[in-house]
Amino acid sequence: MKVNGISTRSVWREPDGVSVGVIDQALLPYRFATIRLATLEDIARAISSMQVRGAPLIGAVAAYGLCMALRVDASDENLERAYSMLLATRPTAINLKWALDEAMAAVRNLPRDQRVAAAYRRADEICDEDVAINQAIGQNGLRLIEDIARRKKSDAPVNVLTHCNAGWLATVDLGTATAPIYLAHDAGIKVHVFVDETRPRNQGALTAWELGQHGVPHTFIADNTGGHLMQHGLVDIAIVGTDRVTAQGDVCNKIGTYLKALAAKDNNVPFYVALPSPTIDFTVTDGIAEIPIEQRGAEEIANVTGRGADGGVTTVRVVPEGSDVANYAFDVTPARLVSGLITERGVIAATRGALAKVFPERANSAKYAPSGRSEG
Ligand code: MRU
Repeated sequence: MKVNGISTRSVWREPDGVSVGVIDQALLPYRFATIRLATLEDIARAISSMQVRGAPLIGAVAAYGLCMALRVDASDENLERAYSMLLATRPTAINLKWALDEAMAAVRNLPRDQRVAAAYRRADEICDEDVAINQAIGQNGLRLIEDIARRKKSDAPVNVLTHCNAGWLATVDLGTATAPIYLAHDAGIKVHVFVDETRPRNQGALTAWELGQHGVPHTFIADNTGGHLMQHGLVDIAIVGTDRVTAQGDVCNKIGTYLKALAAKDNNVPFYVALPSPTIDFTVTDGIAEIPIEQRGAEEIANVTGRGADGGVTTVRVVPEGSDVANYAFDVTPARLVSGLITERGVIAATRGALAKVFPERANSAKYAPSGRSEG
């Protein structure tokens, strides 16, 4: 996608061929800056501090983290150590484990002197595959938007509501939830996006920023607004991303997604989830019981950051001193509230049968996955 008119991915190999560049998402939307990540520790820090965020991007960047660890020491012991360190950076998005497992599988049985090159090769492939998957998700989701546009009596835009940032910043390019939106916009279909603020980390500001860069009309709303808009017929479709989809189709995504799904159900608004297949975790079934939900620091809730009247970026506290604060980063939307899953292989039902039928190789390999690798 474009930043100031220049095509940009959200992760790239730097000219030295070994370090990677990423956009510092902690600075957006106030400042666009890139950072160079050159070591395993750089990568782990960037992921846990959310300079790098979004399930598919976390996975892709973590794969480069293994490459950097292997450059220093290509032994099995160091590989395992790096794997564990990267896996511990964020607990909820399964793409992290998927990408690390892919990179491990690419190098584990090779002699030490071939491991670095093989790891970089697989990490590059993961990036390219992500872009291709998102293109396919875009095409499949585009049909849903086209259908709504056709049914509209006027030339009013198709109103999409989205939560968090499942845009190109959260992936290598194009995004998941945003892919159908970008493709619709580029095809000349009138589309308008209601962007949830997504407290506490305000990923909605990232979504608004990237939609703005691409010229997609959008309206930024407080997190509590969606239900009201749906009651008044102002939302045609909700499309969100996800950090993990279980074998039975439960959807884990940014905190607040569940409430939007409930409101959508009550108002007959179709609620779709866009996902690349690496986001499916066939080893878990009941998302509420089994998916580890990340809890982050209290300061993310207690403080708000923004641009002050003097133009500087500033952080202020909005919670009384002494109040307890809880910061649950994700929630689970049960499959029964999901109208459909927009995948690279088509729009499918959020059911065990549909997921296993459309992704049989993933469903079957999960049964035989070594149990020692699942995080707690
Ligand atoms: O905590 P974040 O910002 O990494 O959470 C991101 C989300 O919840 C996204 O919706 C999800 O990762 C899908 S990104 C294509």
